[in-house]
Amino acid sequence: MNIKPASEASLKDWLKLRIKLWNDLEESHLQEMHQLLAEKHALQLLAYSDDHAVAMLEASIRYEYVNGTETSPVAFLEGIYVLPEYRRLGIATLLVRQVEAWAKQFSCTEFASDAALDNVISHEMHRALGFQETERVVYFIKKID
Ligand SMILES: CC(C)(COP(=O)(O)OP(=O)(O)OC[C@H]1O[C@@H](n2cnc3c(N)ncnc32)[C@H](O)[C@@H]1OP(=O)(O)O)[C@@H](O)C(=O)NCCC(=O)NCCS
Repeated sequence: MNIKPASEASLKDWLKLRIKLWNDLEESHLQEMHQLLAEKHALQLLAYSDDHAVAMLEASIRYEYVNGTETSPVAFLEGIYVLPEYRRLGIATLLVRQVEAWAKQFSCTEFASDAALDNVISHEMHRALGFQETERVVYFIKKID
């Protein structure tokens, strides 16, 4: 398994995996991806098996308050996706470890993340990788026109 930072050259590989994780329009992804590549507080990793992109991870350094944390800034796992046929091979584990090393340059001592309430596989992965559950949150919205 070869892990590389995403780049303009690997944009298509990254996009293909990103769309599988977040079902949005391609155009909205591309604009954000270009911005992320230029952002030094953001990390994007791709995992390759031979020449085939099989997983992606996005992380950031968050300076605003993150639920459950005690310090600032913290590293934050924004998204992770592994193609189904490559799961349970330790790829997410390898990717997440790289975030921990990357976050040291920002003096982070906490690494936070979130997951949908029903994504129990993600919960299992987080626990296996040393994360502890802090809070369960319900978001609300109200239209005000
Ligand atoms: C969650 C996900 C990223 C895990 O990737 P992965 O490469 O399979 O994870 P790893 O192989 O590194 O697994 C690490 C540990 O997590 C736990 N784990 C991972 N998948 C699991 C599953 N399906 N059931 C139970 N535990 C699981 C295990 O403890 C595993 O260690 P083990 O295989 O030695 O038992 C992958 O399933 C995925 O892409 N899911 C869809 C996208 C998603 O939900 N992303 C997270 C959004 S918050």
